[in-house]
Amino acid sequence: MLKTKPEYDEMLSAVGRRLQSNAIRKLTKLLGSREVISLAAGAPSFETFPVQELAEISARVLRDHGRFALQYGPTRGLSGLVEAVAGILRSRGIADSKPSEIVMTTGSQQGLDLIARVLLDPGDVVLVELPSYIGGLIALYNAQAELVGVRQDDDGMVISDLREKIDRALSEGRRVKCIYTIPNFQNPSGVTLAGERRKELAEVAEQYDLLIIEDDAYFDLYFTEEASRLMPLAALCPDRVVYLGTFSKVLAPGLRSAWLRAPEALATKVELAKEGADLSSSMFDQAIVIEAIREGLIERRLPELREFYRIRCRAMLEALERFAPAESHWTKPVGGFFILMQLAAETDAAAALPEAIENGVAYVPGQSFFVDGSGANTLRLAYSKESPEAIKDGVQRMCRVFQNAKALVEG
Ligand SMILES: Cc1ncc(COP(=O)(O)O)c(C=O)c1O
Repeated sequence: MLKTKPEYDEMLSAVGRRLQSNAIRKLTKLLGSREVISLAAGAPSFETFPVQELAEISARVLRDHGRFALQYGPTRGLSGLVEAVAGILRSRGIADSKPSEIVMTTGSQQGLDLIARVLLDPGDVVLVELPSYIGGLIALYNAQAELVGVRQDDDGMVISDLREKIDRALSEGRRVKCIYTIPNFQNPSGVTLAGERRKELAEVAEQYDLLIIEDDAYFDLYFTEEASRLMPLAALCPDRVVYLGTFSKVLAPGLRSAWLRAPEALATKVELAKEGADLSSSMFDQAIVIEAIREGLIERRLPELREFYRIRCRAMLEALERFAPAESHWTKPVGGFFILMQLAAETDAAAALPEAIENGVAYVPGQSFFVDGSGANTLRLAYSKESPEAIKDGVQRMCRVFQNAKALVEG
């Protein structure tokens, strides 16, 4: 019998058909195996991983709790870790956080995916920052949400624009469900939501009866005293916030250990969605994290980590000051991993990338972080991976390419 090959594309679901590779993945392909200074990779520097300490903890976990750590676990997470996260939340001002409001997730990325599935119907409007974190956008997009961009300035989301966008969507008869925000040291812009705006954002959520998805992946990695005192939105209006935190940036992303805190009714639904996704996050990983917390490994290393990234951020800012072409601007982060650079209006950051790679440096063109299709003249620069010397060298090489691109445009 003649076998015909299935038409796989025709077998896909609506969600399956929407799936597409993102700019960062495409960039990884473009880079291939080239040796370049990467101002593109948004990952923590592997220099910051406490490999020796984690080797000892892992060996101990296996020796003393092996049967338990290698078994399936509760969907909500290891109870000792859930308790510890409740403590972390209280220390962040999210006052009466209870274990029943917490679900441990396989990275915050899973938390974003699960909450999107639990909250959103196709066509529901979600307000997102311009620009926003690509992984968050993907999770919301995969849930078939309609993503509406809200302008950001140096103080974060512009509240008047947020109101305008909500009013417009409502007047078009659309259902507006939630606001997705990364208030601290945002990925990709490095911008932080100002204290006053946090209150205003909470008021908007209250007034329009919306939820806020607060993605606080970089909370601990601040560089200034002032930034250390900023309150999460979840501390201001806990009933309206789904709050996501992670151990990826302060311990190691390979442990895939993170959490989601939501009002109990939502946390219960997230738990049920998680059961269908992976039954539970890795017990072994969670057992390692709980030991790292008990030993004070995370807490002890935080000042060093902040210093590590602060030095790299300063190196990048100084290099930009020195080498950036006229008419370009960039953000001045007070924490996190990223700077967003804006080039002269006519310079296309994506078009300049192949030449930048030829010249030994990579960055992420900004356009795919902007859901409204703007941002072609922007790029994300990560200072998290390279040494301060390499950052300076990379910025100089990159800026030379931009100067040439500008000269070409100007003829
Ligand atoms: C803003 C933001 N949210 C979530 C994540 C995902 O982190 P995790 O490793 O916990 O999945 C990242 C990772 O880069 C991020 O930048």
